[in-house]
Amino acid sequence: MDLNSCVSIEKEWDIVGARQRGREVAKELGFGSVDQARIATAISELARNIYLYAGDSNGQICFEIIENIDHKGMCMIAIDTGPGIKNLSQVMEDGYSTSGGLGAGLPGVKRLMDEFDIRSEVGEGTEVRAIKWVR
Ligand SMILES: Nc1ncnc2c1ncn2[C@@H]1O[C@H](COP(=O)(O)OP(=O)(O)O)[C@@H](O)[C@H]1O
Ligand SMILES: [Mg+2]
Repeated sequence: MDLNSCVSIEKEWDIVGARQRGREVAKELGFGSVDQARIATAISELARNIYLYAGDSNGQICFEIIENIDHKGMCMIAIDTGPGIKNLSQVMEDGYSTSGGLGAGLPGVKRLMDEFDIRSEVGEGTEVRAIKWVR
């Protein structure tokens, strides 16, 4: 199985596909079931955001394996060329998320993962990079 790969997010069903694919990669890398579930939840949140807010913009979720002498991890990159987020600092505050889902929006993704970075430009798009390290 090629662990580095991307999943396009166009239809609602693609959210499920990205989640499953991410969980497979996480399992293959040696994450335990709790971390697999965290990773899968984070992927769902990011994929759903692309589907809901940047649906017609070739959004995708990519998985990249990071492997060096003392670190093994999984990086997920959610990227779209949608409308971007204008109130990004507000969005990153707890309690802003409207969905009330399991993952609690972007602050939830940040909590579930070990490293989190978001860039968004109005009219350009949004890119989220998040890493989970294998312990
Ligand atoms: N990829 C994206 N493109 C454009 N806007 C986004 C994107 N992701 C999130 N947003 C905006 O940020 C807000 C907060 O997102 P999130 O924290 O996931 O909470 P929720 O989706 O529950 O509203 C969304 O309501 C939306 O306005
Ligand atoms: Mg959301």
